[in-house]
Amino acid sequence: MKKRIVFATNNAHKLSEIRAIAGDRFDILSLDDIGCHDDIPETSDTLRGNALQKARWVKDRYGYDCFADDTGLMVDALDGAPGVYSARYAGPGHDSEANMALLIENMRGVTDRSARFVTEIALIEGDDVRFFTGTVEGEIIDSPCGECGFGYDPVFKPVESGLTFAQMDARSKNAISHRGRATAALVDYLSHKPNTQLR
Ligand code: IMP
Repeated sequence: MKKRIVFATNNAHKLSEIRAIAGDRFDILSLDDIGCHDDIPETSDTLRGNALQKARWVKDRYGYDCFADDTGLMVDALDGAPGVYSARYAGPGHDSEANMALLIENMRGVTDRSARFVTEIALIEGDDVRFFTGTVEGEIIDSPCGECGFGYDPVFKPVESGLTFAQMDARSKNAISHRGRATAALVDYLSHKPNTQLR
């Protein structure tokens, strides 16, 4: 029997990404699939804390083993900002365009352009809690470049490439991205375990 596990998200992009990495080894269920339509809080000041909060919410209320992720862009010259607040850097109700515009503005004239994306995944199976981390190093360029991807992709150029994430197709990005790496570590762990049951 295939391993079945809940991913605490309804983000279609993330679901298809992990299903691509996991292949047909697991049944990965979304929040929709288990009838969870809650607005799950993310109130921690760390990526790990937020990931664990989401996974714990599902485990405690719905009984399923599950995993959840949280990602941040850490810019060295900005003391690690936007970091855990990457989704709302320009303030609540602002979109990715506004977040990126503020980042470009705050980096104007700054010579140290180094930054990294970090993804933390929290996995809860029964009483067991584990974390998986994925990081990609890169730099912030001074104006957006490329049409693909989302979020800060047009201004982030990974060290592995001369292109921004927004200039790469999904497959090339997933191969080196923070989330791709954290997800690969999770899939590797789950692949070497005995059967993971739904409840
Ligand atoms: P989340 O935890 O995956 O929702 O990510 C939080 C925020 O980080 C998002 O709203 C995006 O602004 C940013 N982010 C996460 N992953 C990426 C990525 O792969 N490229 C660009 N921005 C990202």
